Amino acid sequence: MTERAGNGASGPGSPGGYGTTASYAIPKWPVLSGASFRWRPFTPRPSSVLDGREIHPVNLARGALETILELLRLKPGDQVLLPAYHCLSMLHPVLRANAVPAFYGIGPDTRIDPDELRRCIGARTRAVVAPHFFGFHQPMAALRSVCDEYGIILIEDCAHAYFGSLGDNRPVGSTGHFAIASPWKFLPVMEGGELIVNDYPAGNPDLPSTGIRGDAKELLNMVERSLQYGRLRALGGLFGPLFGLAARRRASPAGGASPAGDAAPVSAAPGRADPDSEIRPRRMTRTARLIIRHSNFRRAVERRRAHYRRLAEAWQDLQGAWPLHDVLPDGVVPQCFPLVVLHHQAVTRALKAVRVPVVRFAEHPWEGMDPDTCGNAAFLSCRTFQFPCHQELTADELEWLAETVKRIVNGTAPDPPTHIGPTWTNRRPFQ
Ligand SMILES: Cc1ncc(COP(=O)(O)O)c(C=O)c1O
Repeated sequence: MTERAGNGASGPGSPGGYGTTASYAIPKWPVLSGASFRWRPFTPRPSSVLDGREIHPVNLARGALETILELLRLKPGDQVLLPAYHCLSMLHPVLRANAVPAFYGIGPDTRIDPDELRRCIGARTRAVVAPHFFGFHQPMAALRSVCDEYGIILIEDCAHAYFGSLGDNRPVGSTGHFAIASPWKFLPVMEGGELIVNDYPAGNPDLPSTGIRGDAKELLNMVERSLQYGRLRALGGLFGPLFGLAARRRASPAGGASPAGDAAPVSAAPGRADPDSEIRPRRMTRTARLIIRHSNFRRAVERRRAHYRRLAEAWQDLQGAWPLHDVLPDGVVPQCFPLVVLHHQAVTRALKAVRVPVVRFAEHPWEGMDPDTCGNAAFLSCRTFQFPCHQELTADELEWLAETVKRIVNGTAPDPPTHIGPTWTNRRPFQ
């Protein structure tokens, strides 16, 4: 695979020819294609967060978290424990609920230790948010036991884990009193969150809806993004002129806010006002609900796991970089492929130049947190790159990603440092 593929001239990411262009060489998030759907509706579905007891479809996982904290009726001064390794979309709902964020440490591979949780629980702690980072499972039953011991609420954060089951065959998302999930990271929708109630007398959260306008906008955004990446070409003639017009309007000085394109909701940079203040919790659009209901979960599960294994094989001997998880355990359906990169600044620049999509979870932790809270979180925040391994990548796109990242990482590797982080000294940093 040549460099051509990454520069947008041809190969993955070439413009669709209907007025708008893709942000990346290959899709960062799942895009809609004919294969996204479950054409045989009665085939059994693999485990997912939708197996939870009571599901409320909302706009985003952060909206679900905000709603849960409202349901808990927190008092001023009540504390919510978050991981020191967090993004601002997890933090802002806590601030909006007038609660005090407090932080617990994580292990070098992002594992949450029940004893660390116990150490951090204080007299005012009311809830704990525990994410399955990148889709890799946490010891959720043990975390739940700690929370039960102290009479506090466990919110199982499945923003990175929509599918799969934990070791005891429990579907992901069914152990916490509540769970939150982010279908837009797993399925070809532009927005979507799930609020899952497993074990709390919550009642029915009363959320506003966007109505038919929101449904139509979601549909157009989904189709536009798919066309940008060369999917659903048959619809290009139908929708093309419409998107050309919309693109021109967006480019004009008076143009309104950009529809999602590839810019699905992201965390703000530090120091910015709460970027989510405009995205208040509401119901998921009907369009997104329909797409989720008819999505092919089995294909998503199987292809994500297969793509992960292929990237792990391609990236096993990188210089100055290594997979955060070498092994893909049974039951895990990854959200992305987390790669730890020592020379992160040079690699960031090189990836941008060829439009490789990359997510930088926790790149900007909350500035109110003491940076010394957790050495592992500080180390991972600036060095962990998450690459797509979603089901909608084609074989060519996956190979391009594997080869491009390998070439960039190996080509920009500096001399090995003598010290590479607080708890990483036993890792194999270099071959
Ligand atoms: C661990 C975690 N929890 C919650 C969220 C919020 O998810 P959403 O973007 O659906 O609001 C994110 C966002 O990326 C996340 O990474």
